[in-house]
Amino acid sequence: MKKSCEKTIAIVPAAGRGVRMGSKQPKQFLMLAGKPILVHTIERLSQAPFISEMLLVAPPDLVGASEKMVHKYCSGCSLSIHVIAGGKERQDSVFNALQQLPTECSWVLIHDAVRPFASVKLLKETWQRARKNGAAIAAVTATDTIKRVHNGQVRETLARDQIILVQTPQVFHRDLIQDAYRQAQQRGWTGTDDASLLERLNRPIDVVAGEFFNIKVTRPSDLFWAEWFLAKR
Ligand code: C5P
Repeated sequence: MKKSCEKTIAIVPAAGRGVRMGSKQPKQFLMLAGKPILVHTIERLSQAPFISEMLLVAPPDLVGASEKMVHKYCSGCSLSIHVIAGGKERQDSVFNALQQLPTECSWVLIHDAVRPFASVKLLKETWQRARKNGAAIAAVTATDTIKRVHNGQVRETLARDQIILVQTPQVFHRDLIQDAYRQAQQRGWTGTDDASLLERLNRPIDVVAGEFFNIKVTRPSDLFWAEWFLAKR
């Protein structure tokens, strides 16, 4: 491992089952333009020169298969990739990875395996902003009207100009994110992204303008869009 006090490790949670995709295989392993979606994501992260290593979090029963996949498709990638086992929820998967950070790592960039289109520019901007303030996330503004509902009934309309749709990358100083995850573990806090655990501790988090094409491939229609996007690009 390279020795540097400013070292940045990418954590790529890829241990989901992809229930909403309705496919037999987890969505991150589905093929997109000749390669698994996850490989597109790894290739993109490996183009970011400030990332020196990656912890790829795979479903426990697919660690071996993921290692083979990395060997087959990513042997030309510039960063070293370690495959580890994930947990039941995304939070458990990221927690596992945070426990395996090398001691000399100062910055952690977390990026979903199923967001293959984040640009290197976005990865870099988020990383640079976090390095100033400790924590930064990518997000886009909402275009639809957002309402809060309960039991199928509208309760209220939220002020759209105060709403953001949060993406990954999310970048943190390692001490902040490890502390947030540790406290979440002890206190039973849960969140669907990483920043939400820092919010519980009232930590400031900067927002960077995300990209509308940085979609999370989740449903079958996203695959059609992704094929189209790759063909057009
Ligand atoms: O479920 P969701 O769409 O929020 O998943 C986002 C990312 O988290 C995906 O890349 C998925 O593979 C990953 N994940 C994970 N471990 C889980 C559940 C989801 O690494 N137990």
